[in-house]
Amino acid sequence: MERTTASLVLETIGGKDNVTACGVCMTRLRITLADPSLVDLDALAGTASVLGVVRRGETGLEVVFGPGMVDQVYQDVSASLSKPCAVAPVPPRPAGTMRVTISPGRAKSYHAQAAARASRTADEAGLANLLTQIDHDESARESKPRLLVINGPNLNLLGIREPDIYGRQDYAALVDLCRRAGADAGFGEVRCFQSNHEGDIVDEIQRALHTADGIVINPGAYTHTSVAILDALKSVALPAVEVHISKVDEREEFRQVSYVRLACFETIAGMGFEGYRKAIFDLAAHLAETSR
Ligand code: DQA
Repeated sequence: MERTTASLVLETIGGKDNVTACGVCMTRLRITLADPSLVDLDALAGTASVLGVVRRGETGLEVVFGPGMVDQVYQDVSASLSKPCAVAPVPPRPAGTMRVTISPGRAKSYHAQAAARASRTADEAGLANLLTQIDHDESARESKPRLLVINGPNLNLLGIREPDIYGRQDYAALVDLCRRAGADAGFGEVRCFQSNHEGDIVDEIQRALHTADGIVINPGAYTHTSVAILDALKSVALPAVEVHISKVDEREEFRQVSYVRLACFETIAGMGFEGYRKAIFDLAAHLAETSR
């Protein structure tokens, strides 16, 4: 059986029992370890898809992936741990240059890529500088608010599912729109999550307590049934916007009830995918207003 990147990472850091907390940012998996001596730094840095590894303080470790990749690894690692796992705190940025571990093979491939892209040589130190730059960029991003977009059941089938109601664009196009709109609205991080399972949505909302500043949520059919999702939103008390692609108000009687609405400061319905863009901009404006 093919092993996932998450399982390879866990193997090189002393197994899942060595993880006391786990978090994610744009390009990094953040892990807090029970026993840092169990980490095989070279093996971890040599794992496929890992760009570099940074030690943070006594027990902190950051594993750098390319954007887009890290979300999947985080979801897989979180799923292997007891749920919901504690969120690794954002470590203070050390002054000066940070130490990055990079596998020699990876340095070579980066050498080739960087030379091609910028027609300059990049040795191991050059790559470390590149990652330091990413680190600084991330510091800048971390001062901006973080957005979580949640989509509930059957929204993964957008494009296939009842196209006359939900349109012909697929879920990947929706994620793309949300990421772009999030960046345009000034969010430093945009995390998109979709699940067909009520409990997983509750877990994700709970995780948002320490990893997001606001939520845009289309709970799908759970809108009309889930007190658990309403309670989760109330528990974390983050500003939230409810979105529906279709005109729910003009549809069947059973769609006229929304539990989540009670925990959202706004509801947008019937604007198709564009409703998400409006929700994201309205949330950004709300956060700017309330942080004054
Ligand atoms: C929906 C409306 C819900 O009634 C339905 O169950 C969905 C999608 C919408 O986006 O229009 O799954 O939330």
